[in-house]
Amino acid sequence: MNPVSQVGMQIYKDYVHNLIMETYRSIFSKVLKRVKPTLSEEKRNKKVFNEIITRLKKVINDDIEIELVGSFAKGTHVRNKREFDIFLLFPKKYTKKEISELCITWGREVFSDTLVAYAQHPYLRVKYKGFSIDLVPAYHIKNASERATAVDRSPFHTKYINNRLTKKQKDEVRILKQFLKGLNIYGAELRVEGFSGYLAELLIVRYKSILTLFKEASDWQFPVIIDIENHGTSDKFSDPFIMIDPVDPNRNVAAVVSTTSLARFIFYARLFLRKPSTTFFFPRKPRIDKSKLKTIIRKRNTKVYVYEFDAPDVIEDILWPQLKKTTYSIKRKLESMEYRIFGFYYWSDNVKCVIMFELYHDKLPDIVRLVGPSITRKHDVDKFMDKHKTAVDMQIVHDRITAIKKRRFTSFDHAFNHIITDKSTGLPDRFRKLIKKHKKLNISSFVDRYPEIAYDYFTRTIKV
Ligand code: UTP
Ligand code: MN
Ligand code: MN
Repeated sequence: MNPVSQVGMQIYKDYVHNLIMETYRSIFSKVLKRVKPTLSEEKRNKKVFNEIITRLKKVINDDIEIELVGSFAKGTHVRNKREFDIFLLFPKKYTKKEISELCITWGREVFSDTLVAYAQHPYLRVKYKGFSIDLVPAYHIKNASERATAVDRSPFHTKYINNRLTKKQKDEVRILKQFLKGLNIYGAELRVEGFSGYLAELLIVRYKSILTLFKEASDWQFPVIIDIENHGTSDKFSDPFIMIDPVDPNRNVAAVVSTTSLARFIFYARLFLRKPSTTFFFPRKPRIDKSKLKTIIRKRNTKVYVYEFDAPDVIEDILWPQLKKTTYSIKRKLESMEYRIFGFYYWSDNVKCVIMFELYHDKLPDIVRLVGPSITRKHDVDKFMDKHKTAVDMQIVHDRITAIKKRRFTSFDHAFNHIITDKSTGLPDRFRKLIKKHKKLNISSFVDRYPEIAYDYFTRTIKV
């Protein structure tokens, strides 16, 4: 290439680069316009917050400090977020039991709509003027490592983030939170297994901007390890995503992020860079055509088994991991019985639970082949033959002794009903009791009752 066309090429490249950068910027600013709280909203937030503090101050002891933590304290809250995280900071002379009890008593004294919630310790969830307030008891400590309860580090998170992020970067956090919401991976609840608000903030601390984050994330490999303050403690963790807490080297902020959530993030960050669009942030709710969906499912010509049962009366953060475990245990057993599973799904709304299996086949032959030891192992072969005396047939296949026996569970229904009553499946107790009283749904009633689940599973295409 001659020097003149080289220069021309560079000008062209710069032009394209600027064009795409402009596209990114304009999308981010469109998103920010929709997620940044308005001025009047902020005024109202402040007013309500001050009312809450005034009320609390009337009842708490003199040696207690009130501290706002969470996204409001850091200026990373999104529009229409009406949740305050308010901590009551107690001196060490109070016991753990006392701080919980006092927090609950005082909260109930000044607010009428309250509910006791449980994290590591009981705290109070208050409803007031359309706001939800987490009133959390914690200890007043000087540095995060001397903490007495896990929540005591929240005030340190607030300080750290406020020291590390500029106003503009806090806006980028808001944009990132919306991106995560659009992908259904925002929140550290075990139902979501996603990114917490604090994790989103730390990602911007690490990469400075959402655009750099997306570029880096496009190339992430498992496990993803980020250790902003170089604490050197990442070896302690074996999670797919490790984000060492800058204020506490012994905590992985990303501990609940599942491989699936992380994979979604990496994939869609890459997709966004290739095809920037606001739809990643604000996906359109699909309009589900039930009869079309039923046709899609029937045309797959697989066997679909759906079980509905009452949800146990436990909090979401217990229900979801147990429901997951239940589904995986059943799946493992089915596979060991030679049922081939094409896919599966589990879901709950805290009232009902649904478990679905999609199978290649739901009938198996009357016989099953058991492969024994190599013929050269005299003793083991004798034992094997003795054990399977009742076999339909005994054969040598290649070098191994093989028994052909009658199969115990030749239909999926039969196998499933055995598995859910069998102790060795290892189902969580409360689930075993409830799943025994399940109701089976056919494709038609499944789609009619749970269109969103059916739609999500059977039409889960990657939208490019
Ligand atoms: P929140 O769940 O309310 O998060 O936890 P947030 O940062 O305020 O974000 P949004 O806007 O409400 O979604 C409040 C604080 O508790 C700690 C953090 O310090 C957080 O700021 N926290 C919570 C964690 O450290 N890890 C978690 O998984 C959840
Ligand atoms: Mn919050
Ligand atoms: Mn909260």
